[in-house]
Amino acid sequence: MRTQVAIIGSGPSGLLLGQLLTNAGIDNIVIDRVSKDYILGRVRAGVLEEGMVGLLNRAGAGSRMHAEGLPHEGVLLAFDGQDHRIDLFGLTDKRVMVYGQTEVTHDLMDKREATGGITIYEAGNVTPHGFAGEQPYITYEMDGTTHRIDCDFIAGCDGYHGVSRKSVPEAAIKTFEKVYPFGWLGILADVPPVSHELIYANHPRGFALCSMRSETRSRYYIQCALDEKIEDWGDDRFYDELRRRLPSAHAEAMVTGPSFEKSIAPLRSFVAEPMRFGKLFLVGDAAHIVPPTGAKGLNLAASDVHYLFEGLQEFYGERSTAGIDAYSPRALKRIWKAERFSWSMTMMLHRFPDTEGFGQKIQEAELDYLVHSTAASTALAENYVGLPY
Ligand code: FAD
Ligand code: DHB
Repeated sequence: MRTQVAIIGSGPSGLLLGQLLTNAGIDNIVIDRVSKDYILGRVRAGVLEEGMVGLLNRAGAGSRMHAEGLPHEGVLLAFDGQDHRIDLFGLTDKRVMVYGQTEVTHDLMDKREATGGITIYEAGNVTPHGFAGEQPYITYEMDGTTHRIDCDFIAGCDGYHGVSRKSVPEAAIKTFEKVYPFGWLGILADVPPVSHELIYANHPRGFALCSMRSETRSRYYIQCALDEKIEDWGDDRFYDELRRRLPSAHAEAMVTGPSFEKSIAPLRSFVAEPMRFGKLFLVGDAAHIVPPTGAKGLNLAASDVHYLFEGLQEFYGERSTAGIDAYSPRALKRIWKAERFSWSMTMMLHRFPDTEGFGQKIQEAELDYLVHSTAASTALAENYVGLPY
């Protein structure tokens, strides 16, 4: 097979890039190691910046999001037994869209099918080759045979554990990493959300987040130790712990019901530089991870796609390499700002095993300053709704 852009990974970044390319008349093939149903079974992010909303519109995959997504104009920070609202819209003139990553993926898959895009699922041993030279290609195994896709470029959209970044010689890549000493235990349940706006809670027992997927589906998280076992967390224990970490008005109003998804995610900050190696580009989680506290992971994948798509469009339209040459530095500038924001939200809102004294007091001072200073609230709001592309 031959295509212009071979895309490894059928997550949100691979699908979004593929659709923008298809709409621009640039041929592409998406290839993933797992099945479509497996990908659609993943429950992850839920808050979209306006930039990502715009890209989904541009991909032609935004109509269900506009019908079913929930535009939010503020978020609540809860500490000291009280809510403090950050007026995102009042401070920035921008909203965020609450719409699950699973739905985004679903809509992009539907659009890809409708526009005749090729996706190869359940491909074994996907491997990028020759990207340091002029003729890159991908090989994969299926039905006992090795297949080959020749291409002009390879987009590594295959997530943190993917093969693309690992295929780059170690000497050519530099990585930066911070691992946090806790995780998030999250559930999904068909109960109405405890609040119409998201609640980020700082509490002596640990961080908690009340989010949602719709008016009838809640997504709740609590900070937990890294060695917690999901089996030890029945729904009653989870809700009891969540309620303890919220202001009493919310705790009392909370409607509980059986969860249908429960998982623990570790928290990590990670960046690989650069994001281009000859004809191979790293995109989204393949190149960087943020702790989820700022709701930035999915949105960063989208801004990478924006920069790479612009570069590829310029290459095929004008035969100019200026855009693809600028991809890595342009993307990394925005990534490091989101890394900084996600790190600072994580530091401000979680309990750290070693934050008993000084660190704890600094956290309290920071929260108090944040909610009483318009300048500080605006800085948070501006980052939360998303810095410009
Ligand atoms: P992915 O979604 O990881 O997609 C990569 C795709 O590549 C997958 O389909 C995978 O099957 C495929 N792939 C991997 N390896 C190979 C291979 N060798 N060959 C072929 N295909 C391969 N962000 C938030 O903002 N808020 C959250 O609450 C949040 N929760 C998260 C929870 C978890 C458990 C994880 C892992 C991430 C979470 N994120 C969250 C981050 C967000 O989901 C990611 O930033 C987003 O999924 C990035 O999209 P992506 O397309 O770059 O990568
Ligand atoms: C969700 C996840 C986040 O990490 C976040 O900051 C906000 C919302 C969610 O899954 O809904």
